[in-house]
Amino acid sequence: MNVRTCLAIVLAAGEGTRMRSAKAKVLHAIAGQSMLAHVLQTVRAADAGDVAVVVGPDSQAVTDEVKRVVPDASIFIQRERRGTAHAVLAAKDALVKGADDILIVFGDTPLVRPQTLKAFRDTLARGAGIVIAGFRPADPTGYGRLVQENGKLVAIREEKDASAAERAITLCNGGLMGLSGMHALSLLEQIGDTNAKKEFYLTDAVALAHQAGLPSEVIEIGEDEVLGVDNRTKLARGEAMMQDKLRAAAMENGATLVAPETVYFAADTKIGSDVTIEPFVVFGPGVTIGDKAVIRAFSHLEGATVGEGATVGPYARLRPGTKLGKGAKIGNFVETKAASIEDGAKINHLSYVGDARVGEKANVGAGTITCNYDGAKKHHTDIGKGAFIGSNSALVAPVKIGDGAYVGTGSVITDDVPANALAIARGRQAIKEGWALTLKPAKNKSDKG
Ligand code: UD1
Repeated sequence: MNVRTCLAIVLAAGEGTRMRSAKAKVLHAIAGQSMLAHVLQTVRAADAGDVAVVVGPDSQAVTDEVKRVVPDASIFIQRERRGTAHAVLAAKDALVKGADDILIVFGDTPLVRPQTLKAFRDTLARGAGIVIAGFRPADPTGYGRLVQENGKLVAIREEKDASAAERAITLCNGGLMGLSGMHALSLLEQIGDTNAKKEFYLTDAVALAHQAGLPSEVIEIGEDEVLGVDNRTKLARGEAMMQDKLRAAAMENGATLVAPETVYFAADTKIGSDVTIEPFVVFGPGVTIGDKAVIRAFSHLEGATVGEGATVGPYARLRPGTKLGKGAKIGNFVETKAASIEDGAKINHLSYVGDARVGEKANVGAGTITCNYDGAKKHHTDIGKGAFIGSNSALVAPVKIGDGAYVGTGSVITDDVPANALAIARGRQAIKEGWALTLKPAKNKSDKG
């Protein structure tokens, strides 16, 4: 924990114009959560005790997302879009309150790492007035160029205001900024809008700091980290980069990914050690996988907890509220929802189990359906410990199958079954000897046409 205080200002006022979306840009998701949530978690991981988020007008959805992720964040509204410095100054009240370190991060740069922000703070602690993220993009068009004299950063020139010589500079501004809390407000308030875009450029703080004799430092980082996502192509690129990071982290933590490039994680997926994940598995938000579990090919999991040594799939769908106990087995074409499948229980083939408990070591046969919905309400099915549900049974909820009970194949169970009982609820088979032969004359006629 850094002993210096830190205020992070996150700029989230951008609209979805280039996304061609009714949704605010920062709410578009990468790895199952909004870009804004990624940025907010990153600033928190860099120990920013105070978080201020600048949103545009009519941004209730953005505000709601901020409150969900960082409930104590303060929200400021930038009513008119007049540049990055203007946006930061919308959070003037937070700046006036003060902090040792001020971090400014864009809400549409989801790949920024906490380590980078921590390095910014360390540099501020060593006496820098401003810290900038420098990077060398394959194509520098559109980025601010870092103008240096004798190895010292003296200004950032925006593309539209740059001379030909300045445009030839390959070191660009990644958009992140660290400011010494002592000088931040006075620097920001000196920024004017006499430039090609008639905007208040945050980047002008560098030249002002230089004039005031304050040292500016550059931390050089990779291009990937400062990817700004403002269209769907970049959203897909950001997703791909984030997935690579998540796959690498899962393998680093002891999971085997047979074909990592085909596995999709959510940012919050938690994977134990010695877990095996076969090809083409997708994790939605809220999944925890216990040690030694095996997730077989083509499975989709969301809001589910998988116990130690459990097996899922191939072709399984675990929906929110699924909880698998130790060594439980969910096989092919099985869907579960709000279901607790206890230790050693098995649902191996072609079933739907929702709003249910399946007791320890119970066996749910192929094609079993819990009929949980009557068109108005959801009802619960309780299957006791060691119970055996014969194939192709329909359990009409609310219903309870006692411990050790048997349900005969093809039953429609509407009443509770006591422990250790056998319930059979199907039409009794009738045999009519020779009946097929009575069809013969008619059949011969139709064969002749
Ligand atoms: C900015 C930098 C540029 C840098 C680039 C990196 C400035 C003046 N320029 O340019 O040096 O190379 O980022 O990506 O800072 N925003 C607001 N309100 C505003 C304007 C912007 O909230 O009034 C937000 C945007 O939604 C966006 C971010 O600030 O998330 C950057 O703004 P944008 O105008 O896109 O700056 P760039 O042209 O990318």
